Amino acid sequence: MKYLLSLLILMKAMTMMAQESVKSPNGNLEVKFHISKNGTPNYAISYKGKSIVNDSKLGIKIAKDTVSLVKGFELLKAKKSTFNETWVPVWGQSNSIKSHYNELAVTLNQKKRETQMILRFRVFDDGVGFRYEFPKQKNLNYFVIEDELTEFSLTGDHKAFWLPGDYNTEEYRTSTTLISEIIPKLQSKTLTVGENYPLYENLGIYSVQSPLMLKTKDGIFINIHEAALVDYPAMSLKLDEKHFKFTSHLTTDAVGNKAYIQTDFTTPWRTLIISDDARDILASNLIVNLNEPCNYETTDWIKPVKYIGVWWEMFVKGNTWAYTNESNTKLGKTDYSKLKPNGTHGATTENVKKHIDFAAKHGFDQVLVEGWNEGWEDWYGLWKEDVFDFVTPYPDFNLNYLRDYAKSKGVKLMMHHETSAAATNYERRFDPAFQFMVDNNYNAVKTGYVGYPIPRGEWRSGQWMANHYRRVAETAAKYKIMVNSHEAVRSTGLHRTYPNWLAQESARGTEFEALGGNYPDHTTILPFTRLVGGPMDYTPGIFQITFDKYNPENKGRVSTTLVKQLALYVTMYSPLQMAADIIDNYERFPDAFQFIKDVAVDWDETKILEAEPGDYITIARKAKGKNEWFVGGITDENARTAKIDFSFLPANKKFKATIYEDAKDAHWETKPMAYKIRTIEVTSKTILNQALAAGGGVAISIR
Ligand code: NOJ
Ligand code: CA
Repeated sequence: MKYLLSLLILMKAMTMMAQESVKSPNGNLEVKFHISKNGTPNYAISYKGKSIVNDSKLGIKIAKDTVSLVKGFELLKAKKSTFNETWVPVWGQSNSIKSHYNELAVTLNQKKRETQMILRFRVFDDGVGFRYEFPKQKNLNYFVIEDELTEFSLTGDHKAFWLPGDYNTEEYRTSTTLISEIIPKLQSKTLTVGENYPLYENLGIYSVQSPLMLKTKDGIFINIHEAALVDYPAMSLKLDEKHFKFTSHLTTDAVGNKAYIQTDFTTPWRTLIISDDARDILASNLIVNLNEPCNYETTDWIKPVKYIGVWWEMFVKGNTWAYTNESNTKLGKTDYSKLKPNGTHGATTENVKKHIDFAAKHGFDQVLVEGWNEGWEDWYGLWKEDVFDFVTPYPDFNLNYLRDYAKSKGVKLMMHHETSAAATNYERRFDPAFQFMVDNNYNAVKTGYVGYPIPRGEWRSGQWMANHYRRVAETAAKYKIMVNSHEAVRSTGLHRTYPNWLAQESARGTEFEALGGNYPDHTTILPFTRLVGGPMDYTPGIFQITFDKYNPENKGRVSTTLVKQLALYVTMYSPLQMAADIIDNYERFPDAFQFIKDVAVDWDETKILEAEPGDYITIARKAKGKNEWFVGGITDENARTAKIDFSFLPANKKFKATIYEDAKDAHWETKPMAYKIRTIEVTSKTILNQALAAGGGVAISIR
C-alpha cells in the first residue's frame, strides 16, 4: 500500500513536470497544458477560475500511418512570450485594433521516430487561439491527414446555437437547443437546405458547424471557431453527447483524405472567444488578430461599397437571369441574337440604365447586374462545366453603352461571376475574366458557386475549395478588384490578409426570405455565429415585406418589420452593403429610404450597447472620418424596450437624432410595414427607452 502510494505520488510528479500554463494579459483566462502518461498532449481552459474546457486531447491522425501524431510525445521545450501592438485595418468596425496576448509555444518530440510538432497557444483577454505547427524536419516532409483530433471537452449541457455539420453548405436555419438535444434534432431530419451534404445523414456522424455559440447555465458565453483557414479543410465539431465533448472533424476530399501537407506547415487556429458578457463576443477581434497582416503594396484602391442591383426582382417578381427559354445553348457555339428573347430577362440595357440613374440620384457606389452574360439557360444542377465564360454579354445588355453611361454618372457596375460551382472552369478563365473587368471599368465582383463543386467530388469546405476561394481574392488583388463571395466556405478572418475580400455570404442571407424564409430571431444570432469570422453580404433593406404585392398567389414574406430592415445596416456589420429591394419600393417610402442613403459602411468606432444571442442586439457606430453616429437595434419575435445609452457621444454637445421606429401597432406578422420617424435632441447623458415591435427594430441617425 505504502509502495503504491509513493508510486502514485511519483507518477503525479512526473505529469506535473510536463505541466505548463499561460494567462491572458488581464489574468481572467488561463490555458493549462500537459502531456498525459502515454504521451498525448492535453489542454484545458479556465475563465475567472471556472473551468470552460476540461482536459482535452490534441493530435493529428496521419493516413496510412500506425503511429500518428497523437501519442508518444515528450516535451522538448516550452517558450513563453508577450505581444502587444495596435494595427490599422483598411476598413472595419473601428479604425484601430489592439492585439495583446501572452503566448505559450510547446515543442514536442515523438520519440518513436523523432518527429517534432509545436503547439502554439495565444491567450488574449477575449479568448484563446491555438494551432499545430510542423516545422521542416528530416522525418516529416509530405504527409496526408486522415483527421484532426482536437477535443473541446465542455463542462455541461450548455445552450447551443448551431447548424448541422455539412461539407457543402452553411445555409441552414440556426437551431437553438441544449447540447443534449442536438442529436435528437439531427435524427429528426427536419433540417434541410439545398446542395447539402449533412454528415449525420450521409456518414452517420453527429456534428455541428463552427462558429458554434454556447451559453453556460451560469451565464458564460463561449464561441468556438477557427481563424486563418489556409491550405486546409474547414472543421466541423463531432459530438460525444455523454461527455458534452466536441472533437474536430475535417471536411473530406474527393478520394476520402482530409488534407495534403508539406512541412513547413501550420494549421488554422482553433479559437474560443469567452466572456460572461455577450457584448464582448460581438466586440472581439480575436479572429482577425490571429490572421496574418496584409502584405499588398497598396490598399488605397480598396473602398467599402454601398450598392443596389438587378437582383431581388428575380427572386420575387418572376424576372429571369436567362435571356431566352430555349435551353439547349452551348458556350461559344450559340448565336444568341438568333434566339427568341423570353421577355422576362432582368439585365436589359434599359433596366440597368434605370438602376444607374437611381444609384446616381441617391448616392450609391455600384449597381450589381446578375444575368448579364451568356449561359443562364441551363446552368444549375449536378456538376456542369463550361457553362459561363465571364466575358460574353447577352445581346440585350449593351456593355459599351452601359459602361460609358455609368461612368458619366459617377457610378460603377458590379460584376457578377456565377460559376455554377465549376471552380476549375473559373480558374482557367481568371485572367481573361479579370482583365475584362479592368477594361470595362468594373472594380468589384460578386462570385457564386451554386451546386456541387468541380473538381467533382470536392466540397465547398474542403482543402481544395478553401484554397480556391483564397486564390480568387489573391488573383483579383493583382487586378485591383474587390470580391464578394457567395457560397464560399465560412469566413475565418482572412479579410485581414486580403482586404479586397470585402465580404462573403456563407450563411442564410436575405435571399432565403424568398426561398422558404428565415426565423425572426435569425439576425439576432448571425452576429454571434457567422459574422464572428468576417463580414457578411446579408443584403438587407427589403421594404415590401409581403410578396403578394407581386403576385396574389405568392404567400412568401420577409420575417421582420420594415424598420428592422433598416437596423440591419448597423447590426450586420459589412463594408459592403446592398439596398436589396426593387428600387421602385424605395420610391414609395422615401423618408425611410433616407436612412439607407445616410448610413455609413465604414467606421471609426463601434459600441455594442446590448446583446443576447437569439433575443436582441443594439449597436452604436461612429462613421469613419465624420461626426455622424448610427444606432441599430433589433429584437426576435418578442417585442421589447431597448435601453439606448448615448454616452458614446462626445460630452457637452447637443445633437439631433432621427429615430426610425416601428409604429405602435407594428408587428412582423400582422403589420410589418408600419413605421414612424421622429426627431429628438440628444446629448451624451441621454438614455432612451425605445419600444421595438415583435420582430422589429429601431434605426437612429445622428448627424
Ligand atoms: C446564389 C447567390 O447567393 C445569389 O445571391 C445569386 O443571385 C444566385 N446564386 C445566382 O448567382
Ligand atoms: Ca429568442
